Amino acid sequence: MNRTDDLNKWKRTVEVTMQELIESSEMPKRLRDAMSYSLEAGGKRIRPALVYAVLETYGVPVVRGREVASALEMVHTYSLIHDDLPAMDDDDLRRGRPTNHRQFDEATAILAGDALLTDAFRILTEMPIPATDIVEIIRIFGLAAGSSGMVGGQLDDMLAEKRSDVTLQELQSIHERKTGALLVYALEAGAILAGASREDRARLKQFGRHLGIAFQIQDDILDIIGDEQAIGKRVGSDEQNDKTTYPKLLGLDGAKRALNEEVGAAQDAIESLSVPAPLLLEMLSFVVKRNH
Ligand code: IPE
Ligand code: IPE
Ligand code: MG
Ligand code: MG
Ligand code: MG
Repeated sequence: MNRTDDLNKWKRTVEVTMQELIESSEMPKRLRDAMSYSLEAGGKRIRPALVYAVLETYGVPVVRGREVASALEMVHTYSLIHDDLPAMDDDDLRRGRPTNHRQFDEATAILAGDALLTDAFRILTEMPIPATDIVEIIRIFGLAAGSSGMVGGQLDDMLAEKRSDVTLQELQSIHERKTGALLVYALEAGAILAGASREDRARLKQFGRHLGIAFQIQDDILDIIGDEQAIGKRVGSDEQNDKTTYPKLLGLDGAKRALNEEVGAAQDAIESLSVPAPLLLEMLSFVVKRNH
C-alpha cells in the first residue's frame, strides 16, 4: 500500500469517527451544523495521520487511536475557526469554503470552536484503555493545546504582528507552540497508545519538534507562493496582516533552507528509533512537498 492510499484511508477513518461522535451528542441543531461544517470541510488530516502512522509503526491496530485522532482533529479545527475570526486573522476562506463566521456568524463560530475544544476532552475520557494512560494523554493534550502551547503561541504570534524587530529565535518559539505543539502531541500520544519505550517516546517528540517547525515554514511559504485553489485559503494573508514569518525574516530561499535543515534533523530523529519508521518518513516528505 502506498502513502496516498494510507493517507486516504486514515482520512476517511477519522472523518467517519468524528461524524459519529458529533451525531451521538445532544446539542442545538445550529451548533451541530456549525461544528460539522468545519469538520467536514476536508482538511489534510495530518495530525490524525501522524497518530495512526505511529501505531502502524509499532504494529498496533489503528483503531486504538480512534479517540485520540478525532479529539486532536477537533481541537485543530477549533483553532482554525478561531484563527480566522475578524479579531484574529480575519480570513474569509478556509478549506476551500467560506470561513465558519462567514457561513454562520461570529458568535456561532466562537461557540462551535468552544464546543469542539470541550467535547474533545470528554471524548478522551471514554477511551477503552487504562485510566493512567487516559490521564497522561489528557495532561499532554492540555499542555499542547493550552496556554503553554498552541494558544500561547497564537497570542505571541499576534503580539509579533507589525513588530519589525522579531528575532529568528522568537519566531521559532512561536512556531513551536502555535503549530508544533499539536504535532508533537500527535506523536507522543501515539507513542503512549503504542506502548513505545521511554527512549522512543523522546525521539518521536524530537521528530515532532522538527516536523512542526518545518510544517509552519511551509505554511508561511505557501501563503506567498501557494495556489489559492489548491490550498483552499487566501494567499497573502500574512503579508496583509503584517505578520513576521520565516520568508519575511530570511527571504524565500532562506526559508526554504531553514525548512531543509528541519527536515534533516527530523530524519535523524527517525533513524535513532528502535524500529524502522518508513511511514513517518513519508509523512515528513508529504509535509514538505505539499502544495496545500
Ligand atoms: C493550518 O493547518 C494551520 C497551521 C497550523 C499552519 P493545516 O495545514 O493542517 O490545515 P488543514 O487541517 O489541512 O486545513
Ligand atoms: C495558525 O497559523 C495556527 C493555528 C491555527 C493554531 P496561521 O494563521 O498561519 O494558519 P493559516 O495559514 O491561517 O491556516
Ligand atoms: Mg494565524
Ligand atoms: Mg491564519
Ligand atoms: Mg498561515
